Amino acid sequence: MAAITHTDFNFPKQKSVYHGKVRDVYNINDDVLVMVASDRISAFDVILPKGIPCKGQILNQIAAKFLDATQDICPNWKLATPDPMVTVGVMCKGFPVEMIVRGYLCGSAWRFYKNGGRNLCGNILPEGMRENQKFPTPIITPTTKAEQGEHDADISKEEILAKGLVSPEDYAVIEDYTMKLFQRGTEIAAKQGLILVDTKYEFGKAGDKIYLIDEIHTPDSSRYFYAKGYEENFAQGLPQKQLSKEFVREWLMANGFQGQEGQQVPEMTEEVVNGITNRYIELYENITGEKFVPADTENADERIYNNVMNWLKEKGKE
Ligand SMILES: Nc1ncnc2c1ncn2[C@@H]1O[C@H](COP(=O)(O)OP(=O)(O)O)[C@@H](O)[C@H]1O
Ligand SMILES: [Mg+2]
Repeated sequence: MAAITHTDFNFPKQKSVYHGKVRDVYNINDDVLVMVASDRISAFDVILPKGIPCKGQILNQIAAKFLDATQDICPNWKLATPDPMVTVGVMCKGFPVEMIVRGYLCGSAWRFYKNGGRNLCGNILPEGMRENQKFPTPIITPTTKAEQGEHDADISKEEILAKGLVSPEDYAVIEDYTMKLFQRGTEIAAKQGLILVDTKYEFGKAGDKIYLIDEIHTPDSSRYFYAKGYEENFAQGLPQKQLSKEFVREWLMANGFQGQEGQQVPEMTEEVVNGITNRYIELYENITGEKFVPADTENADERIYNNVMNWLKEKGKE
């Protein structure tokens, strides 16, 4: 199977295209976005040299499923998924912050805590916590949404408001949505025997209306643990079994890469690439509870183009 790492379509009324780290985002007439989830993979904000077959489809389908499952909580940007790798939806002006919500102390938050940090983005953390411990209540640790090539930076609600990045009224809404979405994500995960550890949401506005945008609850934007074994592992100070892109970061770190300048990405052999595809398929099946059915990768470009065109025509947007 081939990895689809780059698309370069020219749809009617297309005004621009943004090649993100993972997604190719086509702006159709400043009205709808056609978002193609490619097979690119990023870690530490760097795009790795090889793509991961099926990854784009997996991300797109998980996000679509969770956007549908949270529609009653807040409006989201999705209008349709005309292709396994594509979501089309409402074009928004994104707020320049990412809303990270954490139910447990791990990852970068744990590293911060271990080094003595107690005020994380305005949240005062209790003393005596251990890695992977559950917070009394989930906390929001926002980051700025960095320009291309930059790293996102931690920021507090107070700073967001003081800098005018988001108005107090809008912030109150996205804060409320964030907590409710995380609650729902937690409940859905629990049905699959999983713990939603932390995740990231992005919001934007179209006119005066606030929408949830981007992907949600995917292994790229979230961390999951298996619920089974969590307590025992935690009691014994053992690592948790994770379902997220964390294994890719761990593989990179074990091979001397942490996204710092001057460091070299370790070689991605066919074995490494296939291993990552298999992990993504495992993640998909665990998170959704459904069998993964790969789309044909032959002529994927043509397939995607035709599927999107049919949708645009049907909606009179071509
Ligand atoms: N509905 C939307 N309106 C506007 N921008 C969106 C919408 N949904 C997602 N985006 C943006 O599209 C991009 C998705 O591509 P991605 O590969 O994640 O890029 P990045 O490298 O910027 O994270 C993100 O920048 C995200 O903020
Ligand atoms: Mg992104």
